[in-house]
Amino acid sequence: MSRPARQLRLAKPPAAGVLTFDGGTLTRVGLDLDDIGVEHWSDVGRALADIGQSLRWAIGDWLLFGEHRDWGDKYTDAQAWFGLDYKSLRNCAYVASAVEVSRRRDNLSWTHHAEVAAFEPDEQDRWLDRAAKNGWTVRELRAWMKGAKPKPLPVHTPLLRFCQNLPTPIIVSQILRVYFPDAETALDTTAGDGGFWDGSESVSVTLLIRDPLREDGPDFRDLDWDDASVDVVVMDPPHLADAGADAIMGGRFGTYPDGHLEEVIRDGCREAWRVARVGLIVKVTDHVHGARYVLESDWVRNALGREPFDEVYQVRNDAMIDPKWEEQLSAYNNGSTFLIFRKDGDRHIQRTKATA
Ligand SMILES: C[S@@+](CC[C@H](N)C(=O)[O-])C[C@H]1O[C@@H](n2cnc3c(N)ncnc32)[C@H](O)[C@@H]1O
Repeated sequence: MSRPARQLRLAKPPAAGVLTFDGGTLTRVGLDLDDIGVEHWSDVGRALADIGQSLRWAIGDWLLFGEHRDWGDKYTDAQAWFGLDYKSLRNCAYVASAVEVSRRRDNLSWTHHAEVAAFEPDEQDRWLDRAAKNGWTVRELRAWMKGAKPKPLPVHTPLLRFCQNLPTPIIVSQILRVYFPDAETALDTTAGDGGFWDGSESVSVTLLIRDPLREDGPDFRDLDWDDASVDVVVMDPPHLADAGADAIMGGRFGTYPDGHLEEVIRDGCREAWRVARVGLIVKVTDHVHGARYVLESDWVRNALGREPFDEVYQVRNDAMIDPKWEEQLSAYNNGSTFLIFRKDGDRHIQRTKATA
């Protein structure tokens, strides 16, 4: 049997700092509950969660209410009351004014709405509908929106083997242009935040997005695509073993326990090779980990049982250096390798362009 919509029924109008509701009282410093039963207790918990979710909406609507009536500046008070800085408060008011109440989805967070606030209302609806239907996290919504940006003009700088401080999407775009002129479609099986693409690529791209903070989600080791069903598969698998999921790199790029990463990358490469019709691009980072040189590029070669068609290196001026490292024992890493594989042989010859 479905439960009634959860709500806290106010026992009396709220006094400053106190919210007395049917079953208890919420003050600035705690929750005082009457001797309520388990269902009521559970409803209170869920209602509190809703209050937490709705707070930024409430702050925004409250600020706008005063602004529309010309009741003067409340931002100074509000900064102290809500513990938010001026910019965050302005953002609450901006999102509340940009996304009218009838468009707000109660199954999506305030941050989902903030992501689409700059769009026209119809466009907002389109993205919010897609996010709600697919259960997208904010990160997933951001990546899909980024992937849908209008395409800038193609970039025609020559591709160099050592790409110094060149943005990743430009390198990817150049690799596709030079090595895969005969490709029309690409599948990015590790799309993450969509950082491989800026719209300048010559192929139509499908993104496989898996939020590293979620257990479920698509897996690049078991793709829902037929054999040879996409021209080029592009992969940028997690390259750090044992990066805590909370650590900056682990949280952003995903991680696997040491000893497991090799198998994950190998399986992902084999699966990508199965699905690719023309070829494969894999980005890896050879680096020192656990006092040993880890040649991830060899994992890829071994998984596919062949040498690459070519390699391109992304080189950055700076390396990330952990302050915990004391004496330097190996080169700090400042780059990655793009391994390029084609299925039709190893000769660098002219190929018919997919589009004239
Ligand atoms: C190095 S990051 C890729 C970053 C991406 N190229 C970008 O620019 O945003 C690796 C990505 O692989 C994803 N990932 C990790 N394991 C996966 C799996 N088994 N299947 C699909 N994606 C996975 C992570 O969620 C992460 O987004």
